[in-house]
Amino acid sequence: MSNTDSVVILDYGSQYTQLIARRVREAGVYSEILTCEASLEEIKARDPQAIIFSGGPASVLGEDSPELQQGVLELGLPVLGICYGMQLLAHNLGGKITASEDREYGRAELEITSYGDCPLWDGLKEQDVHNVWMSHGDHVEEPPPGFEVVAQTPSVAVAAMANAAKKIYCLQFHPEVAHTDDGSLILSNFLFKVAGLSPDWTMSSFVDSNVAQLREAIGEDEHVVCGLSGGIDSTVVALLLHKAIGKRLTCIFVDNGLLRMNEGEEVIGYLREHFDLNLIWVQAQDEFLGELAGVEDPEKKRKIIGYKFIEIFDREAAKIENVKYLAQGTLYPDVIESISFKGGPSAVIKSHHNVGGLPETMKLKLVEPLRELFKDEVRRVAVELGLPDSIIWRHPFPGPGLAIRIIGEITEERLDILRRADKVVQTELHASDWYRKVWQGFAVLLPLKTVGVMGDDRTYENVVALRVVDSLDAMTADWTRLPSEVLAKMSNRIINEVKGVNRVVFDISSKPPGTIEWE
Ligand code: XMP
Repeated sequence: MSNTDSVVILDYGSQYTQLIARRVREAGVYSEILTCEASLEEIKARDPQAIIFSGGPASVLGEDSPELQQGVLELGLPVLGICYGMQLLAHNLGGKITASEDREYGRAELEITSYGDCPLWDGLKEQDVHNVWMSHGDHVEEPPPGFEVVAQTPSVAVAAMANAAKKIYCLQFHPEVAHTDDGSLILSNFLFKVAGLSPDWTMSSFVDSNVAQLREAIGEDEHVVCGLSGGIDSTVVALLLHKAIGKRLTCIFVDNGLLRMNEGEEVIGYLREHFDLNLIWVQAQDEFLGELAGVEDPEKKRKIIGYKFIEIFDREAAKIENVKYLAQGTLYPDVIESISFKGGPSAVIKSHHNVGGLPETMKLKLVEPLRELFKDEVRRVAVELGLPDSIIWRHPFPGPGLAIRIIGEITEERLDILRRADKVVQTELHASDWYRKVWQGFAVLLPLKTVGVMGDDRTYENVVALRVVDSLDAMTADWTRLPSEVLAKMSNRIINEVKGVNRVVFDISSKPPGTIEWE
């Protein structure tokens, strides 16, 4: 990374540290997150042009709170301190911190006291209201010598402070969260106006550096095994590793018989055709469906599928020689809870991590090349890797597959009904240009028959529910307001084309309290 500018983000344990990294990436600057306990040598080894101190849950007045790394300010680099980072700097530089009884959490109105003077506010309009996101207990009562207060809020007199001569800037609020108006602009002002960096980092540089890191971490001889699910995350992981170590990667795709129509053929067929991967396609449909016969309870279904998958994956992985690593498509939202200032989230490889369920003798370590990324960033990496839209924009699909979209017993016949109904939903979402606008859209087969008429005959057949939702991260979701003509087309086609279905309903529940899947 020697010829691109870079920023080191010291992680003091904030849940938002990765968001800072993300915003810095979005601004076109390479960043690395290091634990706040990183040594000066480790920081210097990154050759950063600026340093950002994250927020964190501790109080600088408390015992055992993370401390300022000796010598870090003496590097003379531009510094941005956010929340805990600000308090830590103020505390160490001779300012006064006050512990608050109450935590201030939520929106606050920022009053900028130094328009025109402070580069952080370049481009912010004086007449606008600036909402910012606060989440803190302590606050800075008096700035350290040499610092000037550059913004306040009704409850915090020092909401931002600056020492322009030393290029140290501090914010009590979180510019990295979406609730802060112009937060990205404020961060960009620090990167470009204060630190003078160039926005020359791209997703293609991400691919290059990620591949280089993987190559170095895995070594010359070790082999890696990767489970492919057909989704974008595991596909991108496989391709990054393939670039890094070539044939020392073996991918395993377990067909559990619970996939959508043609799913395996589409994704795996594509990979086989375009990339020279070692790819084992395990046809395990009968094993899964055999164990699921007669099972109606959704939790039991999930357990059976989970255990069976591990059993089959182990069996196949054990055949590969010299395997030391298991690659997974873990994304940042999946690891958010494990972040702490002790561990630091940035490593692509977690050492000595035993994978649950795999044989003790294998002792595989996890490789997680996407653990710093958000879903939309993975899509951008996929574009960079040349994957087609049909894979990049594929809706999320649950591991247990159609098993949790068939309510009640799973049989070949019911799978066939659901697959054909689901195919209509997918086709019509594409045809109406709604596929990419929604988070997920699919059909669910209910354990219920109702009366209908077809021609002159009375029918007594299955009900299919349509579920189409909007969401940003699957944590919350709302049903998509699909035009009635799109719904009508789906319903007509399913009832006419899918034998065994005579009624279609549309799910209008939000999450919460509903969930996206029905189970
Ligand atoms: P729920 O139903 O909890 O789903 O609102 C949230 C998101 O997660 C997906 N999902 C799963 N994905 N294994 C997965 O890989 C699972 O067991 C699973 N269950 C739900 C679901 O499709 C939605 O995107």
